[in-house]
Amino acid sequence: MEPKEKIILTGDRPTGRLHIGHYVGSLRRRVELQNSGEYDKIFIFEADAQALTDNIENPEKVRQNVIEVALDYLACGLDPAKSTLFIQSQIPELTELSFYYMDLVTVSRLQRNPTVKTEIQMRGFGGESIPVGFFTYPISQAADITAFKATTVPVGEDQEPMLEQCREIVRRFNYIYGDTLVEPNILLPENAACLRLPGTDGKAKMSKSLGNCIYLSDSADEVAKKVKTMYTDPTHLQVSDPGHLEGNTVFIYLDAFCTDEQVARLTTDYQTLQEMKDHYTRGGLGDVKCKKLLTAVLQETLEPIRQRRAEFEKDIPAVYEILRKGCEVARQQAAETMEEVRRAMKINYFEDASLIAEQAQRFAGKA
Ligand code: TRP
Repeated sequence: MEPKEKIILTGDRPTGRLHIGHYVGSLRRRVELQNSGEYDKIFIFEADAQALTDNIENPEKVRQNVIEVALDYLACGLDPAKSTLFIQSQIPELTELSFYYMDLVTVSRLQRNPTVKTEIQMRGFGGESIPVGFFTYPISQAADITAFKATTVPVGEDQEPMLEQCREIVRRFNYIYGDTLVEPNILLPENAACLRLPGTDGKAKMSKSLGNCIYLSDSADEVAKKVKTMYTDPTHLQVSDPGHLEGNTVFIYLDAFCTDEQVARLTTDYQTLQEMKDHYTRGGLGDVKCKKLLTAVLQETLEPIRQRRAEFEKDIPAVYEILRKGCEVARQQAAETMEEVRRAMKINYFEDASLIAEQAQRFAGKA
C-alpha cells in the first residue's frame, strides 16, 4: 500500500541500560529524525514482550529495565511531545496481528532467518528445544512495524533480516487479502563504525553479558576507566612502533563519535582525525594520547545525556505517566490498522451490515 504519511517506528528490548553502541547505532539518529520535523509520526517502543521470549524465567529483569530504558530515551533527547514512547506488551493488537501473520510464514523460512539462526546457536537452545515464542519473534516484529504503518525503521544492521522478513509478510498479506499493509524501509547508520560498535575489549559486539559496554548512564569516572583499559593494537608495543587501525577499538570509537572540529579543539597537534590516524600508522603516536582524545569526546557527548537523565530520575512517576500516555496513543493507531486487517481478512462480522443482510436472505430463501 502506498503510504499516506511518513512514519518512523523502532524499539529496543528492555534487558539492560542502553549503551553507546545503541547510541551510535540508532538512538542518535532517532533524535535527529525526530527534530528534523520531516516525519508525520514517530513511535519508539520497548519490546518487553520480545525480551520475555528469551527471559522467560526472569520477568523481574525486564520489569526493572523498562524504566531504565525509558530514562535513557528521554536522556538522549527523545521528546514525548514529538515521539510516542510506549511499551509493546500493552498493545494487545500486536499479538492479535502476529497470530494472523503466522499463517503467512513457514517454519523453514524462520529457520533461514539469520538472526534466529545465530541466536539459536548463541543461546544454546538445541534445534528443536527452542521455545516457539522465541522462534517466531520475527513475525511478532513484523506486527510491531506494520501495526503502525511504519515507512521507516531506523535500526542497526543486525535487524536487516527482520526487516526483510517483515517486507515479505507485507507483500504476501497484500497479495492474498488486498492492498492493506505498508512495506517499511530500513534506515541504517550512516558510517561503518556505527553499524556495529565493538565492545571495549575489541570483541564483535557490545554486550552486557561480555561486560564490555560503556553505558549512557555511566559516570564520567566509569567512562574514563573503561577507555583506559580499552583494546587497541596488540602489536603497537612502543610509541615509535607503527600502529594499526583495523580492529583498533579506540579508532573505531573515534570514527563513530569524533568530529574534525573536536580533533582540532581537543588536541594540540592535529586538525583532523585523518592526520591523527596517519601519525598513528606511521609510528610515534602512543595509545594514551588517543585514549585521552576519546575520553574527552565521549564526555562531551555523554555529559548532557547524564544531566538530562538525572533530571528525569527526580520524578519517576512522571516517566511512567509518559509511557502510559504513549501506550494509549499507540493503541489507538494499532487498533485502526487492526480494523483494516479484519476487514481485509473478512473477519469483521459485526461491522458488515451487508453480510448480515445477505445471510438473512440466504436462510430466508431456505424456508
Ligand atoms: N529486535 C529489536 C532489538 O533487539 C527490537 C525490536 C522489536 C524492534 N520489534 C522491533 C526494532 C520493531 C525495530 C522495529 O533491538
